[in-house]
Amino acid sequence: MSTEPRNIRDVVRFLRQRGELGLDEIFLERLTREQVLRAANEARAQASGEASGEAGGEASGEARRGAQAERRGVPARAPDHGTARADASQPDDVEISAAQVDIAGLEYSELASVADCCQRCRLAEGRTRVVFSDGNPQARLIVVGEAPGANEDRTGLPFVGQAGKFLDLLLASVDLSRKDSVYICNVLKCRPPGNRDPMADEIELCSPFLKRQIALVAPEVILAVGTFAAQLLTGTNRPLGKLRGSVYTYEDVPLVVTYHPAALLRNAGWTRSTWDDFQLLRQVMDGS
Ligand code: URA
Repeated sequence: MSTEPRNIRDVVRFLRQRGELGLDEIFLERLTREQVLRAANEARAQASGEASGEAGGEASGEARRGAQAERRGVPARAPDHGTARADASQPDDVEISAAQVDIAGLEYSELASVADCCQRCRLAEGRTRVVFSDGNPQARLIVVGEAPGANEDRTGLPFVGQAGKFLDLLLASVDLSRKDSVYICNVLKCRPPGNRDPMADEIELCSPFLKRQIALVAPEVILAVGTFAAQLLTGTNRPLGKLRGSVYTYEDVPLVVTYHPAALLRNAGWTRSTWDDFQLLRQVMDGS
């Protein structure tokens, strides 16, 4: 790249092209962090100026939802986030540092790209892939899990192991699928070593990504699976068994909580409660 990019989308396109060409690990070799951040800030200022100048249209329902999502830069399908892999060996002055980016102001593709390069916490050192999301970014439902496991770390997709298959079955039982009607992500985007529990500082450093994901996808309902997602999104530290069975709100969005499918696989006794939780989820989605 011989010229300074006009905005962050050029950077994202550049990273994606490198990935498609099979070039990986080294990127932004002619851009300093300051140049990248300046370009991102300019793009954000430009985008928010454009958004505030727009008049409300006449579209309704699905069309309005699609148009609103488009304005937030939310793609109709989940993009492949695997092209801009993080590389812990990059020199300091060429990485896009998530620590210094205003995550709350990013558009969807920018958010995914910044997450892909994130070095905010210790988990960056051990990860193979950042696990950003799967499913439909324009879905009515977001499912929030805990953190990637080994399969997720290898593939870059959330919930692809045994627990993921079980989650898909539970969703199917109330007529939902990750292909069409669900967007799936986790509290942590990187795998904790040995699948240990997330640590408080990891959650704190990573949660701005989740917060922004939820704001951009703008779901009608959120399902938190497992203790860590449930406690983070309800803002309490009550045990899951006490939290489940009620409808909460997160940033004004109805929130249902249930057991993590991996825990369910170990405790068959929770199956009935989980079934009830999914019925509750369906009722909330149906507005009944
Ligand atoms: N468990 C989770 O919470 N998330 C995943 O992506 C996989 C397993």
